[in-house]
Amino acid sequence: MATEAQSSFDILLAEDRVYPPPPGFAAQASVNDPQIYAEADKDFEGFWAKHAESLDWFQKWDTVLEWDVPWAKWFTGGKINASYNCLDRHLADKGTKQAIIWEGEFGEQKTYTYTELHAEVCKFANVLKGLGLQTGDRVAIYMGMVPELPIALLASARIGCPHSVVFGGFSPDSLSDRINDAEAKVLITQDGSFRRGSVVPLKQNADEAVKKTPSIEHVVVLRRAGDKAQIQMQEGRDLWWHDLMKDASPDCPAEQLDSEHMLYILYTSGTTGKPKGIVHTTAGYLLQTMLTTKWVFDLKDDDIYWCTADIGWVTGHSYIVYGPMANGATCLMYEGAPDYPDKDRFWDIVQRHKVTILYTAPTSIRTFMKWGTEYPERHDLSSLRVLGTVGEPINPEAWMWYNQYIGHGKSPIVDTWWQTETGAIMITPLPGITETIPGSATVPFPGISASIVDENGKDIEPGAAAGYLCLNRPWPSMFRTIFNDPDRYVQTYWSKFPGRYFTGDGAKQMNNGYYAIIGRVDDVLNVSGHRIGTWEVESALVDSGDVAEAAVVGTEDVITGQAIAAFVTLKTGIEGTEDERQKLKQHVAKKIGAIARPKQIIFTADLPKTRSAKIMRRLLRDVAAGRVLGDTTTLADPAVVNELKEQYEQMGAAE
Ligand code: PRX
Repeated sequence: MATEAQSSFDILLAEDRVYPPPPGFAAQASVNDPQIYAEADKDFEGFWAKHAESLDWFQKWDTVLEWDVPWAKWFTGGKINASYNCLDRHLADKGTKQAIIWEGEFGEQKTYTYTELHAEVCKFANVLKGLGLQTGDRVAIYMGMVPELPIALLASARIGCPHSVVFGGFSPDSLSDRINDAEAKVLITQDGSFRRGSVVPLKQNADEAVKKTPSIEHVVVLRRAGDKAQIQMQEGRDLWWHDLMKDASPDCPAEQLDSEHMLYILYTSGTTGKPKGIVHTTAGYLLQTMLTTKWVFDLKDDDIYWCTADIGWVTGHSYIVYGPMANGATCLMYEGAPDYPDKDRFWDIVQRHKVTILYTAPTSIRTFMKWGTEYPERHDLSSLRVLGTVGEPINPEAWMWYNQYIGHGKSPIVDTWWQTETGAIMITPLPGITETIPGSATVPFPGISASIVDENGKDIEPGAAAGYLCLNRPWPSMFRTIFNDPDRYVQTYWSKFPGRYFTGDGAKQMNNGYYAIIGRVDDVLNVSGHRIGTWEVESALVDSGDVAEAAVVGTEDVITGQAIAAFVTLKTGIEGTEDERQKLKQHVAKKIGAIARPKQIIFTADLPKTRSAKIMRRLLRDVAAGRVLGDTTTLADPAVVNELKEQYEQMGAAE
């Protein structure tokens, strides 16, 4: 299987450094008996059911799992509420414990105890009810990293309204597409959020979006940027958060919902078509996020836990809100950029708040490496005891740096593999048990079964070859469907290898059985840990009006993991100038969001195609990577590739 990550993958496979849990760690870890794997494997339903007992149920389930491939229902007959499990049940013994420690970009601090958070959530749930929302109605949320964001999530969950959070970096078009697909009735946003000292105009973007969303009845606006944001409120439609909260009652009993009640929709990129609305339901999701948070991070009652993700992505949903709060953890939230006001902001936060668990992305670690060790060295990081990574393969070099300069060799690193679709961590070390190898996510979590198969769906033995990463049995936090598109759910994930879930990732099992993840093998890119479909970027390029045809591929990038390279055929009469290149980059950023901005645009008179007119992406990847060209015998016009390659070489690595 050829992929653009092959070279860094070869480095990983040659990795022979092994790190057992640091001295003393295993003895204090809440899970330290390797028997747990065999136990869970023997009866995975029994394993999950046992741990489901530690959630609070209004009514216990009748059946642990109903599995009619590929349709899963967990804990049917049970009645439960996610907001209740994250808040109410902690009030008696953890009411005065900090639930959220929030730090704004300018250094402001706000904290909420579990009692205070509960009151805010109840009030806002009553606000949502007051706007006419009923159980089952969808709520769209487009905010920055402020405490009101988890409050909005937990308030929606409390009254059984599935939330659809749209990352604040997305464009108005991306927002309106997602609102329309979910047919959300209410949009919650803020006047503006802060990033590197500048205002991100969320309300202005929301106004643009809402022009195209007939389902939206009200827009609730949180005041955060104040005078720094230029906004207008539309009478009748737009309402201030603080006005609505003024008289809201803090009494709002949590709805008793079915285990399978839809908790949220989160849109993610696929290979073709519009983004997919990944549907998660309540009980199973809550169970697996809770248990993985507890075991993977060895979470203890006095930990200060910081996941640096944005709640706009699944990592924030599962490991800032539901997983940690179901455990009654103290969660740190930071609003802004890691280099504001200086490049030591993260380490300054770790020191001041005595953060004990840090969960971040390989792309951030590589950025910190580039900035240099002087920044972490300015601070006392001795409070840290567990380090995590997620979102993309971590190269052994970055792993070693994280271990040495952040963990000082005493904090285990948990490299966690999972996806928006899986809802929770699936392949990961357990820090008190697993010997880690830099760059490997190691082994499936107890109760999870993975495999690597070849093109024909045949299992590949450890050490033999790379193949397709699959999951063999249902798991509680699995997504249940794609919103409004069950056929796509079946087609995309369950048809390639019948009976198994296909992850879209390539991987290889090392000789010892550990999983080494290569990355996506479909037309999905992973830029800084964010998924972007090649198709979305291609459509945005064509949408500019200047482009006849475009093909987008990923190239290796030392910081962002992958970067976007776009091969573009312009319409007759449009010239491939530097201005045109900038214009197209800008258009994509405006159309989708800055994360989708191509790093390179290569103009070409034609795109390499097979005789059946399929674009040969493999060749384009080779061209963009400057690699020796692969087999061109099936190419309709082989000259096209050579021309592309020449052009690319002339551009060098120019952006
Ligand atoms: O390719 C894998 C990569 O991220 C993809 C999932 O992206 P998303 O749904 O946006 O969720 C990201 C956060 C959970 C996967 O298909 N990925 C995620 N974690 C890892 C990873 N690749 C290698 N190692 C990881 N630890």
